[in-house]
Amino acid sequence: MADLLNGLKRTDMCNDFSIADAGRKAVVFGWVQRRRSLGSLIFVDVRDRSGLVQVVFDQTTDGAVFEKAEKLRSEYVVAVEGTVRERASKTNKIATGDVEILAEDLRILSESDTTPFEILDNVNVNDALRLKYRYLDLRRPTLQRNLIMRNEIAKATRAYLDSLGFIEVETPILGKSTPEGARDYLVPSRIHPGEFYALPQSPQLYKQLLMIAGFDRYYQIAKCFRDEDLRANRQPEFTQIDIEMSFVERIEDVTYPIEGLIKNVFKSTIGLDLGEGHFRNMTYKNAMENYGTDKPDTRFDMKIVNVTDVFKDTEFKVFQDAMNVKIGPIRGSIRAINFKGGAAKLSRKDLDGVVEFAKTLGAKGLCWLTVSETGEVKSSFNKFLTSENVEGLKKACGLKNGDALFIASDKDYVVFNTLGGVRLMLAEKFSLIDHDVYDVLWITEFPMFEWSEEENRYMAVHHPFTAPMDEDLELCSTDPSKARAKAYDLVINGQEAGGGSIRIHSRDIQKRMFNILGFSDEDIQTKFGFFVDAFNYGAPPHGGLAFGLDRLTMLLTKDDSIRDVIAFPKVQTASCLMSQAPSPVEDKQLDELGIKIK
Ligand code: AMO
Repeated sequence: MADLLNGLKRTDMCNDFSIADAGRKAVVFGWVQRRRSLGSLIFVDVRDRSGLVQVVFDQTTDGAVFEKAEKLRSEYVVAVEGTVRERASKTNKIATGDVEILAEDLRILSESDTTPFEILDNVNVNDALRLKYRYLDLRRPTLQRNLIMRNEIAKATRAYLDSLGFIEVETPILGKSTPEGARDYLVPSRIHPGEFYALPQSPQLYKQLLMIAGFDRYYQIAKCFRDEDLRANRQPEFTQIDIEMSFVERIEDVTYPIEGLIKNVFKSTIGLDLGEGHFRNMTYKNAMENYGTDKPDTRFDMKIVNVTDVFKDTEFKVFQDAMNVKIGPIRGSIRAINFKGGAAKLSRKDLDGVVEFAKTLGAKGLCWLTVSETGEVKSSFNKFLTSENVEGLKKACGLKNGDALFIASDKDYVVFNTLGGVRLMLAEKFSLIDHDVYDVLWITEFPMFEWSEEENRYMAVHHPFTAPMDEDLELCSTDPSKARAKAYDLVINGQEAGGGSIRIHSRDIQKRMFNILGFSDEDIQTKFGFFVDAFNYGAPPHGGLAFGLDRLTMLLTKDDSIRDVIAFPKVQTASCLMSQAPSPVEDKQLDELGIKIK
């Protein structure tokens, strides 16, 4: 390391000291966490990215150094030279609590104003202030740990993929608008007024072209950009671990080697062994029907049960309407979840609260039914509830005394979304989830297409380059809603950590898929002519997937917000509170681009 700091050379990081170091010289660099004066002694905690060490200035050791130490304030940057010694009053509050450094020399490298908030993990400051001074926020131990974890994941990823012969290739950031589902970020071209580049939503087309180019096994830790609504696990710019392989045709050809990547990452970052066998597999259909989502959290039970039959003779109009839905391939149903022992936990107000919550998920309403410990049944639809219905529910849902049932009726997708969401909300609220467990599973057999009520046509569920399952090829034309894709998602603790597919490599099949999706030949040429043309020149069978690096990091650090694992994140409104991006630009810049603001 350079000898740059006024002749002082760092010997250790602050966290590296233990009792074994007592008696030796040390030089540390860092920030003053806090200073306490006790007569002829000054105690200073010095912090660097590794942790803290206590430094003592003793007036009787060196008066001049002591005088300098009196000037120290929080967040001053210092270099300290001294001798490590056993601490008189040991503490386990910090990792180096057995020792301290008796200072012999002090260099103040930089002073600091009083910071807008204290640099402590549990300090109570609002997010906006934190993000405005993100460089100070990033000094907090948790955020330092998170970014270090992110680096560990990236390192383990590179090492593992390298060992399997994958090579990292960079793909363009200035690209062409591609159909990945979300809205593109556009960049105006100065040289071609009126024309735009699009920032990549993912390197999808490029990585497939790299397979056609013969690279065989590609990966990239790639920045991706999507102009979509932000959520706790979504940012407009995020990072993918993007992977593609040639000469694969079965799902397992991709998922098996990739399981190795995930196991390696878990092992090398948090030391967790995910076991020898393959990850569990659940079909999309099972996931939807049992958990109401394609990213089920299976760390707790409370499965969804189809109770349509129980109500086949009901007089209740809401239920009747649901049973009669027929919009394209969309059907309706009545389904329930049983919150075991929920009757006593939920007050009438709580029950109403659950109904209101369901409405925020798109439900028109939600029925509830409770059975007291003594067997007394109460419900929100008493007028229509028959004793046969209650018997039917007991049988279908294992309903017992003390349970609370929630029943949704609507189009299937609304029912799934509602009950899936209510299930998670109840689990969080009543602590039904064991947060020490990692629940890892593949979801497979996704549908190829889903019907868009808005556009009145089929849309690709994954993307238009995903291959159908061999046995479902014909269904793609005869009954698209039933055709399944060779697509897979990796779900960890109810989060979609990654996803991908085996791709189509035959021109004819690709053309058929585009036609089902309603693209004319002309559309295909203008939108992805460069891409489909490449398939005329020898495309190997290929497939791949991409993980969200940010999401993997969140799972490993157990953070709830994606912002906590990104150095400089955006807020809900897609802006950066620190740099104030996005911001207006000068008229001259707009003129050059031929752009006028409406
Ligand atoms: P997909 O769109 O499923 O697939 O994205 C892959 C993974 O990227 C992460 N991710 C995000 N993370 C943070 N913020 C976002 N806005 C965001 N969007 C996605 C998720 C997701 O699982 N090209 C395909 C992959 C393939 O087929 O190979 C793709 O991008 O963890």
